[in-house]
Amino acid sequence: MHGRRLATTERIIALLSPSAEEPLESLEEWASKRDIEVAAVTLDEDVEDVYDPGPSTLGLTVGGDGTFLEGIKRFTPRGIPQLGVNAGTLSFLAQVEVDDMLSALDEVLRGRATVDSRQMLEVDTNGLDATGINDVMIENVPPENPFDRKVTRLDVFADGEYIGQYEGNGIAVSTPTGSTGISLSAGGPVHLPADNHTLQIIPLNTHSLGVRPLVVAADTEIEVVAREQASLLVDGGRAQKMLAGDSVVRVTGASERAHVVQTSYDEQFMTAMASKLGWGLRDESDGPRELLSTERSSPDPTTDATTTAERARQVACEAAESAGEPLRELHGRVEDVTFKTDKSDIVTEADQQANRIITTVIENEFPDHGILSEEAEYREGSSSYTWVVDPLDGTGNFAHGNPQYSVSIGLLDGEEPVMGVVYVPETDELFHAVAGGDAYQGDTPITTTDREELAESMLLSGWDPNGDFLTHFYGETRGVRALGSAALSLCYLASGSADGSWEYGTYPWDVAAGIVIARAAGARITDRHGDPYELAFDDDGRNEILCSNGPLHPALLAHLQESEELVGTD
Ligand code: IPD
Ligand code: CA
Ligand code: CA
Repeated sequence: MHGRRLATTERIIALLSPSAEEPLESLEEWASKRDIEVAAVTLDEDVEDVYDPGPSTLGLTVGGDGTFLEGIKRFTPRGIPQLGVNAGTLSFLAQVEVDDMLSALDEVLRGRATVDSRQMLEVDTNGLDATGINDVMIENVPPENPFDRKVTRLDVFADGEYIGQYEGNGIAVSTPTGSTGISLSAGGPVHLPADNHTLQIIPLNTHSLGVRPLVVAADTEIEVVAREQASLLVDGGRAQKMLAGDSVVRVTGASERAHVVQTSYDEQFMTAMASKLGWGLRDESDGPRELLSTERSSPDPTTDATTTAERARQVACEAAESAGEPLRELHGRVEDVTFKTDKSDIVTEADQQANRIITTVIENEFPDHGILSEEAEYREGSSSYTWVVDPLDGTGNFAHGNPQYSVSIGLLDGEEPVMGVVYVPETDELFHAVAGGDAYQGDTPITTTDREELAESMLLSGWDPNGDFLTHFYGETRGVRALGSAALSLCYLASGSADGSWEYGTYPWDVAAGIVIARAAGARITDRHGDPYELAFDDDGRNEILCSNGPLHPALLAHLQESEELVGTD
């Protein structure tokens, strides 16, 4: 799935072309009413002086494609997502029209905008090291005497493999974003650019029949040897160099990707291209545009419970994946930190950032629902639905640089869990289910195992303060593992890598989502006596939970009963 949600914006850096005075005035007025800072920068200024890594920042470019490309140069290295407003004439990159700018920004603030990642490329040759988002062109230099040779010869290699000799006007190596430029006019394929991480090599007016447009993975090392003098242009001249004969140019996908903000004010890619290039083949009304705008328009206060839970699943998947980004980034930092105090600061920051993203998305999409999050004050809703959120389950693991932590987002109707999403940022595993339906990991349905003998089973233990569960079951089974994330334990039970799991005390946010997923996969969930498990909403808020694949449950219950004294609780 692409298009993560853009949830919080506290600051806007606006990069403006000289003709953007009017839009700037309306932007400043709009922002001051919403308590958002605006820093305006012109094309010959860097954003360094106004950049502050603290607040969540949106980069806004107002101008044509040139301004957008300048924005990419300044915002991408700082990880700032960019929204392009078109104040130029034929803009492929900046898609929002000036008249729609404020409405598009409103959409960003409401958490409805998404962010696509765009592949960029890196060009390296003697004396030039440049990054581009569109293309690099290596072309023949027109001879002074028109009777002299007008073509150039380029030998091209991809990851060391010889692709062939391109004899003709040269080649364009383009990104998917740049596929609608020179490479399109040279007969190259058009790529839908969102989250498309490839590069293509396109011959320009080639004389060799044996070379065709070639698409390669973005991490391919493309090596071009110019057998004669040639000119090199990156992004239409943003960087350029004259190449002497036998120069070697290396092009590969850049490790940094541009983050481009999409709102419902962007035209669909193919429609925009058809209208801008005057192809006249597509009409707004004959595409699925209406469907798209309904999807993105204000949520209908839905009456049908299944529809609510289904829509909640989609929103929760997006929110969980979005929250995963800062978690991954902070997890990387925690691994580098030696001092305990600093680590706990990072963990607090992780909890809060993930919580902010998830709750903003829920509040925007389901304003009448309640939210019970481990990391926030309870927010009461006016409907029967309550979201139960643990933005970071497995804090202990996270703080030690262990990858087993998760984001857990459940939805209750009354006190009944009806939808669950658990996301594991480090492995990109996304578990989800709606009660009454199937459980999934990504797009693949998952089910529990069917083992019924303890001796064949693998168990997971959660909070087990005296080690009783571990001690008592370890010798009886193939093993007892303690993962450190209750939500993840339930998902591993659901996907069959464990046959049972146990926790002495869980909070609703630890298990609400996992319960829906595990049950949908076939799990049975009770207390230690075999009575139905209930989420604990009292002051203490923790209940014991015994989960199994179903067939193993009787053996687990019997063994727990036998060992009641050993377990030492009740
Ligand atoms: C904890 C983890 C742990 C479980 C505890 C939870 P946290 O949540 O899920 O595996 O045994 O009961 O409190 O504190 O990491 O969010
Ligand atoms: Ca937890
Ligand atoms: Ca937590």
